[in-house]
Amino acid sequence: MTVLDDRITNGPDGYAGVVADEQWAAEVRRLADLRGATLLAHNYQLPAIQDVADHIGDSLALSRIAAAAPEDTIVFCGVHFMAETAKILSPDKTVLIPDQRAGCSLADSITAADLRAWKAEYPDAVVVSYVNTTAAVKAETDICCTSSNAVEVVASIPEDRDVLFCPDQFLGNHVRRVTGRKNLHVWAGECHVHAGINGDELADKALAHPDAELYVHPECGCATSALYLAGEGAFPQDRVKILSTGGMLDEARETRARQVLVATEVGMLHQLRRAAPGVDFQAVNDRASCKFMKMITPAALLRCLSEGADEVHVDPEIAERARASVQRMIEIGTPGGGE
Ligand code: 13P
Ligand code: SF4
Repeated sequence: MTVLDDRITNGPDGYAGVVADEQWAAEVRRLADLRGATLLAHNYQLPAIQDVADHIGDSLALSRIAAAAPEDTIVFCGVHFMAETAKILSPDKTVLIPDQRAGCSLADSITAADLRAWKAEYPDAVVVSYVNTTAAVKAETDICCTSSNAVEVVASIPEDRDVLFCPDQFLGNHVRRVTGRKNLHVWAGECHVHAGINGDELADKALAHPDAELYVHPECGCATSALYLAGEGAFPQDRVKILSTGGMLDEARETRARQVLVATEVGMLHQLRRAAPGVDFQAVNDRASCKFMKMITPAALLRCLSEGADEVHVDPEIAERARASVQRMIEIGTPGGGE
């Protein structure tokens, strides 16, 4: 009998009713130790999941940590493509995700067949795919990137080569803006959560809080509006920061601002408030919650550790082809937040 046995009600999956309290955290840690597992959590996870993890970070940091982890088992508290990326990098390790249904609308916005057809139009182009893609898309890719190193990845490609950038149109446009590259072709995909943080909401919040800083994730529909506001002088240029989730944390540790408006998924606020307790962080859109990230519940994590499920498998032939592009991703760019 474990301490949690009497607290688990008989829901359909046998784990309903789990409360994320100290006993739960102790049981999670005990089971992780028994399995010799390390727990990784993305910055968008529920606060209780972030607090119980061994490592919390952005996509780049977690990929690097997964690749270097000495443990034989990785429990990935994030969405499916993240766990898949860990498996691609460490095929001999057991990679578990607490709920394999945790997908990603951005990863779903391009298939391997779509990418093959696009490549046929530009046979000499270099393909850069955001890490938010399936393993099959990564297998068709030359270099993967995350929002932390997308600019550096594109800058590493000779100027005269066409670049196909997929699947996020807002991140792609951001990279084109920063690099000034005309031969960067961008796929029209998007993340429904970030695309929903729109320019009007941002403008209203920014005008209501003229002294605040603005942290905007480059996947957001409002990234262009933020720069437009700054360009028009409606908001001071030096207070607008386009950042990955890890970059937001680095910036928060240094900031002198008393208030920061945050345009990204709301799970981010937990780490920001921990990093800088004296700063008032406010969501630009407090409905921007990713239902896929939130499928990793305390009950799902407990089930994962108790039953060793859901295990992530990647077809070995696809993994082999995808590995080079992911390996290049983790080699390029400064440390991601969390490392
Ligand atoms: P980063 O953590 O790399 O900024 O990614 C954000 C994201 O949307 C992950 O799904
Ligand atoms: Fe995918 Fe968007 Fe959720 Fe990130 S926030 S996992 S990009 S759906």
